Amino acid sequence: MRKINLPESELPRQWYNILPDLPVPLSPPLHPKTGKPISASDLEAIFPPPLIEQEFSQKTDIEIPEEVLEKYKIWRPTPLYRALNLERYLKTPAKIYFKNEGVSPSGSHKPNTAIAQAYYNKISGTKRLTTETGAGQWGSALAFSCSQFGLECKVFMVRISYEQKPYRRIMMEAWGAECIPSPSSQTEAGRRILEKDPDSPGSLGIAISEAIELAVTDKDTKYALGSVLNHVLLHQTIIGLECKKQLELIGEYPDVIIGCIGGGSNFGGLCLPFVRDKINGKDIDIIAVEPTACPTVTKGEFAYDFGDTACLTPLLPMHTLGHSFVPKPLHAGGLRYHGMAPIISHLVEQGIIKAVAVSQLDTFKAGIIFAKTEGFISAPETNHAISVVIQEAIKAKEEGKEKTILFNWSGHGLLDLSAYNAYLRGELIDFSLSDDEIKEALKEIENLPKPKKR
Ligand SMILES: Cc1ncc(COP(=O)(O)O)c(C=O)c1O
Repeated sequence: MRKINLPESELPRQWYNILPDLPVPLSPPLHPKTGKPISASDLEAIFPPPLIEQEFSQKTDIEIPEEVLEKYKIWRPTPLYRALNLERYLKTPAKIYFKNEGVSPSGSHKPNTAIAQAYYNKISGTKRLTTETGAGQWGSALAFSCSQFGLECKVFMVRISYEQKPYRRIMMEAWGAECIPSPSSQTEAGRRILEKDPDSPGSLGIAISEAIELAVTDKDTKYALGSVLNHVLLHQTIIGLECKKQLELIGEYPDVIIGCIGGGSNFGGLCLPFVRDKINGKDIDIIAVEPTACPTVTKGEFAYDFGDTACLTPLLPMHTLGHSFVPKPLHAGGLRYHGMAPIISHLVEQGIIKAVAVSQLDTFKAGIIFAKTEGFISAPETNHAISVVIQEAIKAKEEGKEKTILFNWSGHGLLDLSAYNAYLRGELIDFSLSDDEIKEALKEIENLPKPKKR
C-alpha cells in the first residue's frame, strides 16, 4: 500500500507525556537569577496556566480539548506514505515510510502545537501572542492558529530569512499577523545587538529575547515557543500516536526512526510514543539529524544554558553551542538554533536515541533524489532527515536486511525554492565550523551550573 490514511474518528484524543516514563528524570530548569529550580509561578509572565501545568505534568496521557481536535481536523490525521519509488531507486530491501506533516495549512508540523498554544491562551484571557521565527515556518503556523482563535499575533523573524524569504512573511500577514525583522529597534534586546552590529543577520536566540521582552512588559501579551519545551513536544506527539495506529493497520513496526532536529519538536513528536516502547524493551534505532553547521548535539556540550541571547529564559539542561552562537546562514533556517529540547538531550545522554550531523550540500542532494522519486519537494530542514534515511536504506542493502525505516516529513519546500535554485545552479556552499570556533562559543557557559551526571 502506498498511502495509509486514518479516518477523522481515529484521531488520537490524548497526547503522550513521556516525563513520568523516563527511567531517569530530567534535571529541572533553573531560575536565571537565583540558579534555583524554577516554580510554575516564575513562568506566569510569559505562559498561560494550562501550558505551565503541562510543562511539569506527571500524567502520562493528557486529554486533547474538543476545540483543539476540531481545528486539528482541518488537516489531521495526516497520511503515512510508503516511499516505494525511493526504495526501488535505492534498490534497498528496506521499507521506507514517511509521515506527511506538510499537509497542514502552513505546510509543516508546527501547527500541531501552535493550535494548542493559541487555544490555551485564548481560554486564559490572552489578547496577543508574540514569538520568534527562523525561516518563517513557526511564525506562519502561529499566525494561522491565532487567526483561528481570534488572537493578535506579532512575530520577530530572523533578519536573514526575512530578507531571503519574503513569502512566509506574506503568509503571516495574510493571516493577520505583524512580522518584524529581528534584531529590531522595538526592544531593548534588539537595540543592544544593533548597536554592536547594525548588519546583524539575526538568530533565533536574539528573536526569542525580543518576543519575550514584549510579553513580560505587557499584561495582555504572552509568548509562544515553537519547539524545545516539554509542552511543545507533548503536543507534537499526535504525529507519533497517529503513526502507530497507521502502522498497526498494515501490521508494521519500525526498526529505525529518523527525524531532523532544530529544537527537537518534530523528531520528538514522531519518536516519543516509540521511545516509550524502547524503554519497555523494544529494539529500535532512533536517530536525530542536525546540520554540521549547527552541530548542537553532536559537538555541543550538555550543560545548563539560556534559550535566548539576552539570558531572559530559565536555564535549561540541554545540548548547546552557547547562547550567543550565531549559526552561518544555512537555508534550513529552522535548524539554526544553539540549544535543544531538554527531553531530546536527556534521551541522547541516556543512550536511548542518537544524533548525527549532515552537511548542507548532502541534504539538498537527498532532497532532489526524493523529489525525483516520490515527487514531493521537501523543506530544507526535512532534507536532513531524508539524507540519513537514504544512508540507512543503503546500509540495509549492504547488510541484506529487510528493515522498516520510518521518518518524519516535517514540511514541504515550496516556499524554499530559492535554496533549491542555488543548489541546482551550483551556488550553494557547505559551511565549516572548526572545533576552535565551537570551543570559543562554549566559553560563555563555562561558569553556568552543570546538570548532574545520572
Ligand atoms: C519543516 C521544518 N522541519 C523541522 C524544523 C525544526 O524544528 P523542530 O526541531 O522543532 O521540529 C522546522 C523549524 O522551523 C521546520 O520548519
